Amino acid sequence: MNKILVTGGCGYIGVHTIVDLVQNGYEVISVDNNSRSDAAILEGAEKILGKKIKNYKIDICNLSETKVIFQENNDIIGIIHFAAYKAVGESVEKPLLYFGNNLVSLINILKCAQEFNVLHFIFSSSCTVYGNPDKIPVTEDTPQKPAESPYGATKQIGEVIVANTISSNNINAILLRYFNPVGAHPSILIGEMPLGKPANLVPAITQTAIGKLPAMQIHGRDYETKDGSCLRDYIHVCDIAHAHTLAIDYLVNKKHSAKCEIFNLGTGTGYTVLEVIKAFEKVSGVKLNYTIGPRRAGDVIAIYANNNKAKTELGWQPKYNLDDMMDSAWKWELQLKNNKN
Ligand code: WQD
Repeated sequence: MNKILVTGGCGYIGVHTIVDLVQNGYEVISVDNNSRSDAAILEGAEKILGKKIKNYKIDICNLSETKVIFQENNDIIGIIHFAAYKAVGESVEKPLLYFGNNLVSLINILKCAQEFNVLHFIFSSSCTVYGNPDKIPVTEDTPQKPAESPYGATKQIGEVIVANTISSNNINAILLRYFNPVGAHPSILIGEMPLGKPANLVPAITQTAIGKLPAMQIHGRDYETKDGSCLRDYIHVCDIAHAHTLAIDYLVNKKHSAKCEIFNLGTGTGYTVLEVIKAFEKVSGVKLNYTIGPRRAGDVIAIYANNNKAKTELGWQPKYNLDDMMDSAWKWELQLKNNKN
């Protein structure tokens, strides 16, 4: 009786979380329509785990299809909801695509949780809900500024939907606000698989370094930061994954004091874009070909986490430092290239 449904299980954070959950004794099934992910990534997870992971190739925007999962698995005790579109720039170009997909899928999975009495719900949120904070580091109580993009707005609205939905039933929820997930599993059997040109910094770095991209641009170097480039809290994807296992444990063992708890998942240290590039060059031995370009619309200038609540209440302790993140991201990129040849 410890089956967890992971939505978006073929996604970057989803697949790493599946590995961590199974290694910590949970049974896991995935639902992912692979519109933005490659089902083959589960093979890497299965190699690490030595067991099959079932994925329902269903779009959870389709409620009747989604209900089949629960009709076929009446022993699901918790849901971890990752499935969403997440490209900040695309969300600015196509806001209704993002509001439609990210909110309808969330509403449907909550309807299933209610109908099939699944009591533990974890929502994949993001530091983007803070907007451009006045004061950093941010705590879970830092007031939210207007989201800088429709993607960020779907996370802000998503949190409100979860909190309001569970207030009238016996579901308990946790909102996990990720900072910037990067890196790959130490086995290098799973990692980030961005479709098309990567929007995020670390895959842009590794794809440029390996020659998949001719060069990369730093989006602005005239910000009020130590070196003019934006500052973020980069966190290893395996540390993020383990936080989900601790969060499910926390709910299952009834350690929560409120029906809807919020936790920041960041290392508590911020690095600028230029510092990340410097760390990558040191770890990989590769000189990166980059230019300084214009600012990117929707970018937050600087943000990093106060992660004390997750440390004290979840017992979460990030294990990996920036060099580890760069090393695993680079080894994953090299592996992808070797696999292609
Ligand atoms: C980081 C910094 C860019 C690419 C978003 C979402 C967040 C999460 C991660 C889903 C910025 C700069 C980037 C490049 C660059 N989404 N950059 N050149 O925007 O902080 O966060 O993605 O999980 O919720 O908000 O991440 O990696 O896109 O950018 O200079 O080629 O790197 O301008 O300053 P971001 P990012």
